[in-house]
Amino acid sequence: KNLIQIAIDGPAGSGKSTVAKKLAQVLGFIYLDTGAMYRTVTLKALRSQIDLNDPQALKAIVDTIAIDFDKDRVLMDREDCTEAIRQPEVSRNVSKVAMDVHVREVMVKQQQQIASNKNVIMDGRDIGTHVLPNADYKFFLVASAEERASRRLRELAAKGFETDLKTLTKEIELRDKLDSERACAPLAQASDAICIDTTTFNIEEVVNALLEIIQNRK
Ligand code: C5P
Repeated sequence: KNLIQIAIDGPAGSGKSTVAKKLAQVLGFIYLDTGAMYRTVTLKALRSQIDLNDPQALKAIVDTIAIDFDKDRVLMDREDCTEAIRQPEVSRNVSKVAMDVHVREVMVKQQQQIASNKNVIMDGRDIGTHVLPNADYKFFLVASAEERASRRLRELAAKGFETDLKTLTKEIELRDKLDSERACAPLAQASDAICIDTTTFNIEEVVNALLEIIQNRK
């Protein structure tokens, strides 16, 4: 079988997930939001009130959690947690959980399993570098910190969360720093990835830019 894999990586708020979702629709591929998986583990860890720096406690959680995707819903142990995993509390703690080597090992195995028999678009931080190193297409999306923060502000406001641009910019910068500096599979552009700056682009323009690259290389 000739399966196609597309990897989209980049920092928080670079537009990855919105673009990946649209692209998957157009191409008829499966879309996997790997950030949602780390968020789901984080939500369970927070609810269990474990010490997020304790590898043993994290292991107990990640070894027993069931993460499932049902269309655009995310399920944690069969419970719909789609909205819950977007809470600021989860965003503020997810990088700590995602630093854990065992957590990453378990997540990556599941991600590779999902990609093993379908055409897939996956977005995250380490897809092009670790999860799908042989992906047919690799993209790295970036945007200025201000633009990324204001995108998040709009997203959160639409969901009823109140916050301000300054706080959000700080949180996003801290998350990117933790994600880029961790020892295990940090946020990084794969050497064979195409970098696209989305600062001045809307979603449609980014989707079209990626489609053009994909169609021209066929
Ligand atoms: O993509 P999103 O912003 O929802 O990801 C949340 C967090 O999950 C990231 O900040 C990062 O800590 C972690 N993550 C990761 N590797 C991935 C995807 C997400 O470490 N492939």
